[in-house]
Amino acid sequence: MILIDGKEIARQIKSEIAAEIAEMIDNGETGPHLAAVLVGDDPASQTYVGGKEKACRDVGMISSLYKLPENVSEKELTDVIDYLNNDDQVDGFIVQLPLPGQIDEKKILQRIHPAKDVDGFHPQNYGRMALNLPAYIPATPYGILQLIERYKIETSGKNCVVLGRSHIVGSPVSILLSRKAYPGNATVTVCHSSTKDLKEKAKQADILIVAMGQKEFVTGDMVKKDAVVIDVGIHRVPSEKTKSGFELVGDVKFDEVSKKASFITPVPGGVGPMTIVSLLLNTLKAYKKEIYK
Ligand code: GUN
Repeated sequence: MILIDGKEIARQIKSEIAAEIAEMIDNGETGPHLAAVLVGDDPASQTYVGGKEKACRDVGMISSLYKLPENVSEKELTDVIDYLNNDDQVDGFIVQLPLPGQIDEKKILQRIHPAKDVDGFHPQNYGRMALNLPAYIPATPYGILQLIERYKIETSGKNCVVLGRSHIVGSPVSILLSRKAYPGNATVTVCHSSTKDLKEKAKQADILIVAMGQKEFVTGDMVKKDAVVIDVGIHRVPSEKTKSGFELVGDVKFDEVSKKASFITPVPGGVGPMTIVSLLLNTLKAYKKEIYK
């Protein structure tokens, strides 16, 4: 079994980004600028946004944060988005999800200019991704592709089963792995809450991608011997084993599944560190105008 070390791959990619930005600054450029919009006080969202700011600092990328109260109106939020769309100093920005109930999330994501949509959630980027045109690819799926690539995992002709169909992970990853490309060219099955015989379907997978948000859902008996298992879940659970009194676990029961898998991502230290790095890569592409000239 090979443990896919997302932490190490993320570190390598971050040092590549840092070197590229240092050269830009040496040449008198400002380098890329990523902005984030954070609405309300959701602790998980605060943690994610804090992680993004730290990653920017680590690689020498400019970051800025627009904090808005939980009761913000849709108009006030769209005003901030319009401001960022028009600010030439900002190369890309994200609106952290989820948003409070009074805000129409779809409307907000469509308001972001596609050229600055480094999360890749705008329909234009999503459509371009599906058509295999240059596009910002959502950060977590992009991170998964890079892990597959850096570990030289074969995907062509493989049975890939994706558990979960969210717009952020399951759905885009299923599109990406079925594209005629590497990584891709796989036969992809997407399973969700209405899927019958999910266990049997999971067991057919050469590559199993688990993004359903259910703690330790995938057990050893659901996985084929020598499958590649990518665990996107992250859950904080009470633990007597750690000083802090909690530990992080994924959507996969690691102890059981790691005994059968050929490759597996741990939680933490697998997919998680790759997500933020992918956002940095998309922001670098925005700065260099690689997707939209
Ligand atoms: N909430 C959970 N994941 C994400 C993400 O990748 N981007 C944004 N904007 N919000 C999220």
